[in-house]
Amino acid sequence: MFFNDRHEERADKQAIELDGQQIPQHIAIIMDGNGRWAKGQNLPRVAGHQRGMEVVKDITKAASDLGVKVLTLYAFSTENWKRPETEVGFLMKLPGKFFDTFVPDLIANNIRVNVIGYVDQLPAYTQKAVKNAIAQTANNTGMVLNFALNYGGRSEIVSGAQELAQQVLNGEIKPEDIDETRFSQALMTASLNKYADPDLLIRTSGEERLSNFLLWQIAYSEFVFVDEHWPDFTSEVLKRAIMIYQSRHRRFGGLAENKSDKK
Ligand code: FPP
Repeated sequence: MFFNDRHEERADKQAIELDGQQIPQHIAIIMDGNGRWAKGQNLPRVAGHQRGMEVVKDITKAASDLGVKVLTLYAFSTENWKRPETEVGFLMKLPGKFFDTFVPDLIANNIRVNVIGYVDQLPAYTQKAVKNAIAQTANNTGMVLNFALNYGGRSEIVSGAQELAQQVLNGEIKPEDIDETRFSQALMTASLNKYADPDLLIRTSGEERLSNFLLWQIAYSEFVFVDEHWPDFTSEVLKRAIMIYQSRHRRFGGLAENKSDKK
């Protein structure tokens, strides 16, 4: 069930008929509620993360099948280090477990792995798992599965500003050369090129916060909040979120009346 209660968003929950021409090209997801799901099942919190990892596999395939170009998943934030050591340790081992079992499927589905975040601060074994997966899928030309790992939106913006300041100091650019395009190019999503900004941001588990996720990039994203915990997220929930997205008119601050005027 969705929290949004606008009329068009409550429309027909039975049949989900998506407009194949209006599939969001970049979907970003804040995967929340693993802990609450586990608590509800009388399981330790890490069981929620384990189940969440399996759901990532399903949703990756579902998004790729729908024709999504980039799927960005918030797997570990710069704030998540504050969690108990055992939980952080478990989360750090998840990329290895995930890629060990899932890289063949990624290759079969032509999906390329990318990572944003401060990867060099992760344990060596996590870095290794991530780098191997990136290398093994580097030639794939389909959807980009973009993990945000040790990522924080404010830090990303600060790092980008530092990089631009250095370019000014080096005499490569002048302060007045810094515009939105150049700033975007200094962010971690730069390699996603025209898909750098999410069209649709989904957060699970009923929370309606951004939690320091893609602060620059979500300037014009549509937000959809669903109350399923991430371990209960399914391809049907994904499709409903896309249906809500398609029911909205994105105007990017302009006056365009219909969706064909987008982008
Ligand atoms: C938020 O739920 C979830 C996380 C901080 C971790 C997300 C990780 C996964 C979904 C596993 C997949 C990861 C990989 C690398 C494949 P929470 O623990 O904050 O839940 P709560 O708010 O109910 O406590």
